[in-house]
Amino acid sequence: METRGTLEVYTGPMNNDFTQRVEAALASVRSHSTETPRVGLVLGSGLSNIVDQFQGTTIPYKDIAGYPEATVVGHKGVLKLGQETAVMAGRFHYYEGHSMDSVVLPIFLLAALGVKTAILTNAAGGILHSLNPGDLMLISDHINMLGANPLTGQNNPEMGPRFLDMSTAYDAELRKLARNLDPLLTEGTYIAVPGPSYETPAEIRAYRAMGADAVGMSTVPETIAARYRGLRVAGISVITNKAAGLGHLSLSHDEVVETGKTAEARLTKLLLGLAKNL
Ligand code: HPA
Repeated sequence: METRGTLEVYTGPMNNDFTQRVEAALASVRSHSTETPRVGLVLGSGLSNIVDQFQGTTIPYKDIAGYPEATVVGHKGVLKLGQETAVMAGRFHYYEGHSMDSVVLPIFLLAALGVKTAILTNAAGGILHSLNPGDLMLISDHINMLGANPLTGQNNPEMGPRFLDMSTAYDAELRKLARNLDPLLTEGTYIAVPGPSYETPAEIRAYRAMGADAVGMSTVPETIAARYRGLRVAGISVITNKAAGLGHLSLSHDEVVETGKTAEARLTKLLLGLAKNL
């Protein structure tokens, strides 16, 4: 934030402070490892344990300069950097009160590490009637209902375009590869909402009418940031519950984390397959 006259101006991720923050984070990581993997993975709520299936040096988030503390249960808070993959076990959510800069810092760090493809995972509520807890949904498109965009503010044209094209945000080739690896994968549109309260049944009816198939509180800012930095993006939602009004009467984070774990084996297989083929 800077102040011009009486107006507070949000300077955005492309200002010098943010660029320096990315560089400081990169320097921290480089003091642990010099690996330059091609694939970056972000593991969402309840999915952190998957990090154990990947090779590399484990770097706690607290050792990465500029990284906020991960506060959400079900998030490990480590980066595992290997020859082929950089796995972020735990992300920063807008609902935790983090700025958009902090939410997308890990993506800028992945890009700075040399990553070319970002695979973003999350826990989501199923809006599509055929989606049940434990299912996986490949994200084919998204709707941003966060009311915020990580690119708001100044732009540095050397980093990415002022007006980013989002018409092919979720890479068609990556989706094809994912479907080859797991032929029963459903595809659908993910809607990101601010949370942290879950939705009302009326909101879910509205989101369904808008074209959403699954609902969650993350991923969209990271996709925007990754596309901005020229990364290819794949998104995978683990359906942890039926969205409000569609299943049993109440939703809880414990249920989200527990169900996330039941889909772990299938998701792990898919992620390992994707990483091997990229
Ligand atoms: N709504 C929003 N976010 C979520 C949900 C949900 O039902 N399940 C997991 N994350």
